[in-house]
Amino acid sequence: MNDRQKLIVNGGRRLEGELRVHGAKNSALPLLSAAVLAHGETVLHNCPALTDVDAACRILTHIGCKCRRSGDTVTVDAANVFGSEIPDNLMREMRSSIVFLGAMLGRMGRCRLSFPGGCDLGSRPIDLHISALRQMGARIGEEHGFLECDAGKGLHGAKIVLSFPSVGATENILLAAVTAKGETEIHNAAREPEIADLSDYLNKCGAKIRGAGESVIVVDGVERLEPCEHSVIPDRIAAGTYICAAMITHGELILTHCRPDHMNGFLQVLEAMGARIYTYGGGKMYITGKKRLNAPPTVRTMPYPGFPTDIQAPFTALCTTAEGTSVFVETIFENRFRHVPELVRLGASIKTEGRVCVVQGVRRLSGAKVCAAELRGGAALVVAALAAEGTSEISGLQYIDRGYECLEGVLRSVGADIKRV
Ligand code: UD1
Repeated sequence: MNDRQKLIVNGGRRLEGELRVHGAKNSALPLLSAAVLAHGETVLHNCPALTDVDAACRILTHIGCKCRRSGDTVTVDAANVFGSEIPDNLMREMRSSIVFLGAMLGRMGRCRLSFPGGCDLGSRPIDLHISALRQMGARIGEEHGFLECDAGKGLHGAKIVLSFPSVGATENILLAAVTAKGETEIHNAAREPEIADLSDYLNKCGAKIRGAGESVIVVDGVERLEPCEHSVIPDRIAAGTYICAAMITHGELILTHCRPDHMNGFLQVLEAMGARIYTYGGGKMYITGKKRLNAPPTVRTMPYPGFPTDIQAPFTALCTTAEGTSVFVETIFENRFRHVPELVRLGASIKTEGRVCVVQGVRRLSGAKVCAAELRGGAALVVAALAAEGTSEISGLQYIDRGYECLEGVLRSVGADIKRV
């Protein structure tokens, strides 16, 4: 059980070497849900081995799909889908299970699921998902903590204007729209690379989606989707975390199987701090920061292509030892500084006030016992521990394992002194 395990880190080792970036969690999950729409066997390559991916496969199996993994390839046979309910225990495992809603409505015409769980980052409403699906003809009721959704005689296209470019809502609308009758327009759609990846998969299956990755997406509904083979895009957040880990140790890294073009918002800030970055063709990049980095200009988390909220915590950890004062404004989630008190235990000097966090760079951190309270905040503790003098003990690994494939093994391969006990 990973909730009893700990990471033991002896800090102060400089990271240096080459790492392969695994497939994106935030792409794999909507892709697995999209496989419900394809009548047959979807083959997903570069699918990361994460507990959240396992949770998605359990949901698929529960509704009648056959899932199997071989290496980094996951196969989902959705020839016979018979279930239209996701039980409470599976929904609670992760918030992204809400992305099954659009796919199941499209395939089964109905869906019953409880309100989703997941990392506690403050209130995470799903009003945008529900309102959009209602506009497409779904009847959705809420009873005893469950959502009862019924597409009646089938969903129809609609013009949907999102008040915020929600990633999950955009995905659910896409999933519902591909087999709805007529045309759906999504205005103010999320532009994250994971949306374009989902659309690429669906189009290979026969869907007609234009504009994914831009603010206006247009979908022409088709009768039915056939399965295909697809490769999940690289995980830009895992890549960013490895970079923070290397930079806090004044190290250098070559990343392979990555997409630097998906990381511009983040890489520009690192360059402004003094890191040097070289990108090559074929998904390869080199980054070096052999001297103490300067504090960045004020960082504001924003929807893509802005600075990603998911990298804010590991990046805050990096800034704890930067020269000068760093200011972070978290605009996406209201409760995303839960790693801060733990970073302070490691010797960081940080103050938070509402959605603003101010980091006064210190020369040294010192090892301590700390506990992860959510996924990216947990990764932040690992980043800080790599630079802290002495030994740190990090618990709460069940969160870290949701989004990083064997984080300790990856970091050890480039020189970190880290082990799981
Ligand atoms: C996805 C990512 C998550 C990332 C986030 C923002 C996955 C599995 N998760 O989460 O890692 O941090 O995008 O980049 O891809 N909101 C509403 N009403 C809604 C939906 C969202 O008010 O119906 C608000 C949320 O409370 C939050 C903001 O919109 O404040 C962003 O949420 P959203 O883009 O939907 O994030 P997720 O899809 O949950």
